[in-house]
Amino acid sequence: MAQEISVTIGVDSEGNEFVFSLTQSPHALFAGTTGSGKSTLIHNILCSLIENHDDDKVRIFIGDPKRVEFYRYAGTPHVERVARDVIEHEKMLRKLVFIMNTRYQIMENCMDENGLPVVSAYNQTMYRKDEDGIKSFSLPNIIVVIDELGNLVLDKQSGKNILDSIIQLVQLGRAAGITVLLATQQPTAKIIDTRIKANCPTRIALKVTSRVNSRVVIDSSGAETLNGYGDALVLLPTSSNKIRVQCLGMDYKNIADVIEKSVQKKLAKNTFNNQNATEAVKPQCKVIDLASLKSFRDSSVGKSSGSKYISPN
Ligand SMILES: Nc1ncnc2c1ncn2[C@@H]1O[C@H](COP(=O)(O)OP(=O)(O)OP(=O)(O)O)[C@@H](O)[C@H]1O
Ligand SMILES: [Mg+2]
Repeated sequence: MAQEISVTIGVDSEGNEFVFSLTQSPHALFAGTTGSGKSTLIHNILCSLIENHDDDKVRIFIGDPKRVEFYRYAGTPHVERVARDVIEHEKMLRKLVFIMNTRYQIMENCMDENGLPVVSAYNQTMYRKDEDGIKSFSLPNIIVVIDELGNLVLDKQSGKNILDSIIQLVQLGRAAGITVLLATQQPTAKIIDTRIKANCPTRIALKVTSRVNSRVVIDSSGAETLNGYGDALVLLPTSSNKIRVQCLGMDYKNIADVIEKSVQKKLAKNTFNNQNATEAVKPQCKVIDLASLKSFRDSSVGKSSGSKYISPN
């Protein structure tokens, strides 16, 4: 079944919650100078996805070229991979292109009302099979988040391959259920290739250093006068009007809590399933001890947490 994936990222100038739908406006670009709030916005989106969606419906791939922001998500049930150096990014993106192409092959015969192969039509077909008692599996939404695109595409050795993979993902990923979110400190034409820009219809400009940079991101000036700290102008694919949004703040305690809870929830679910496999009825879950929590984390850090795909590597 098609699943709506949305996150509340802040409040607009009238004080209403601003909800960003990753299914309706796929692929987005976030840009802003240092300290403008890009990483905080990404933390907010990741925590919201982890808290509000099941890990079998949403799989997350994170690109963290700065290496210090997002490593703590490795081992979270929803997170497949956190890439840190350039080589890891190149491999992760190559794997994502492979997943996308594999998805196109398996959903070849599942068309939507316009006759196009899309992941929601595939999942709908699988859902009907389940109802008929035939076991099937649906394809989860894949969210790819990359902080600091500039550090990757300017790399002398891997930059071109990385850029090629990102362009393929933004051009073809949507129908295959893959959403790409890209952040950059340097919103220049050199970093934001025209093909990336054309395929990222949602743009969030945090404070930028010049009018020219503002135009690169939201096609008009204005973002250079923002206050910083999550003050943003948002351009959506549905309108040419920009919406002023104050993005939500996020501190490390909030992030640690969300990660902790998601790991606990997964452990509780696994414990319950294991007990059910051996006993017909079991009224209570076991209390989880901290040692098992730690060993679960240690064993998951930096590894895939259960990809259903065969990697080309
Ligand atoms: N929405 C927000 N509300 C309140 N404070 C914020 C918000 N966003 C960012 N800040 C503050 O600004 C600081 C810098 O934010 P953040 O690290 O997200 O910036 P950045 O754009 O990622 O910077 P860099 O490009 O250097 O990585 C945060 O530590 C926080 O104190
Ligand atoms: Mg940052």
